Amino acid sequence: MTAVRSKIVQAGALDVESARADFPILKLKVNGKPLVFLDNAASSQMPQPVIDRLVKYQSSEHANIHRAVHYLSEKATSEYEAARRKIQAFINAREEREVIFTSGTTDGINLVAHGYGRKFIGDGDEIILTTLEHHSNIVPWQMLAEEKNARIRVVPINDRGELDLNAYRGSFSARTKLVGATHVSNALGTINPIREMIEIAHAHGVPVLVDGAQAAPHMKVDVQDLDCDFYAFSGHKLCGPTGIGILYGKAELLERMQPFKGGGDMILSVTFEKTTYNTIPHKFEAGTPPIAAAIGLGAAVDYLEGLGLDVISAHETDLLDYATQQVNRLGGLRIIGTAERKAAVLSFVVEGVHPHDVGTLLNEEGVAIRTGHHCAQPVMQRFKVPATCRASFAFYNTLAEVDALVAAIRKVQKVFA
Ligand SMILES: Cc1ncc(COP(=O)(O)O)c(C=O)c1O
Repeated sequence: MTAVRSKIVQAGALDVESARADFPILKLKVNGKPLVFLDNAASSQMPQPVIDRLVKYQSSEHANIHRAVHYLSEKATSEYEAARRKIQAFINAREEREVIFTSGTTDGINLVAHGYGRKFIGDGDEIILTTLEHHSNIVPWQMLAEEKNARIRVVPINDRGELDLNAYRGSFSARTKLVGATHVSNALGTINPIREMIEIAHAHGVPVLVDGAQAAPHMKVDVQDLDCDFYAFSGHKLCGPTGIGILYGKAELLERMQPFKGGGDMILSVTFEKTTYNTIPHKFEAGTPPIAAAIGLGAAVDYLEGLGLDVISAHETDLLDYATQQVNRLGGLRIIGTAERKAAVLSFVVEGVHPHDVGTLLNEEGVAIRTGHHCAQPVMQRFKVPATCRASFAFYNTLAEVDALVAAIRKVQKVFA
């Protein structure tokens, strides 16, 4: 049992104050007020053990990996590969070679679009996406569709922000080559019935790429249980560093795919006549990777597992339920996204006040939320709003911070009354 585990109180609930003490940034004051950080869906904060791991790597372990026999290179290589194994366990991948280090979710999706899409999707083929997608799971497919003369079919959502499963079922045709779907919507918090969606796609022989950017930090993800073909997520949303992410892919698919980027480390041999590629996962990790960030992500995963994803999930559900109830009580605003199954995202619009004004006034109270289209413009179009205010919670947020959010919104309403 790790030291972090001991922070959990007997009842199995999270000792939030003790967890908060691990995050130096949460002690900040903004505009003279204690920081209330509710922009976790954009990027979460980093606990001291992860910061310490980065410092240790930079001060005593750094060298380039995979390329030398000297002590530091071997040390850095073994720590980098150990981080891969930690992430393999974190998502329950069958094999460590199914875990590819990327620079983030966007990079992972682009890898699939180039490595799988450009090879296996052609003229007249179809790709199924959902209205809930982040731009990073739309634009790479549009670029591919344009290049290959393929077609994108979009599955609609209902007024609560839930996917229309019947429409999804009806979207398949003999030409369907791939489904790209988010596990959790970053704009609304909707949790998609992803396991069922994968089952339906597989019944048609179609592989599924899951955008897990908003799921991996908040719930236990088991890629074998989901039976997804690809699963992408970002380190910086899960208490790790920026510049690192993961693409999980089933080995048999990764092996059939073409590399995305060419360069050092992704080859076995190179002549001017012919290059043979390295085995997976190295085939997809050209050049010097973000070694420190990968090791930092390994430490972040250790930290989250120390707390327990089930415990994190339960606390965040409490935060969301309380915030939803309190915000609804205020009146004069509309929550956008009221799905039955939601992760810790509360999107709303305040009547008569532009979201950017709400965000600016909340900042004066030390409350950090995000306002805008959240890189999900089709979701905004569906709800006929240009933007929303989005409070997104992490396990280190408290019910008192929800109260601070609600009090700050009340102030905004008074200013604009
Ligand atoms: C659902 C979803 N997908 C993809 C991304 C892109 O992640 P990144 O910018 O780390 O590549 C985000 C980031 O907000 C997201 O929320």
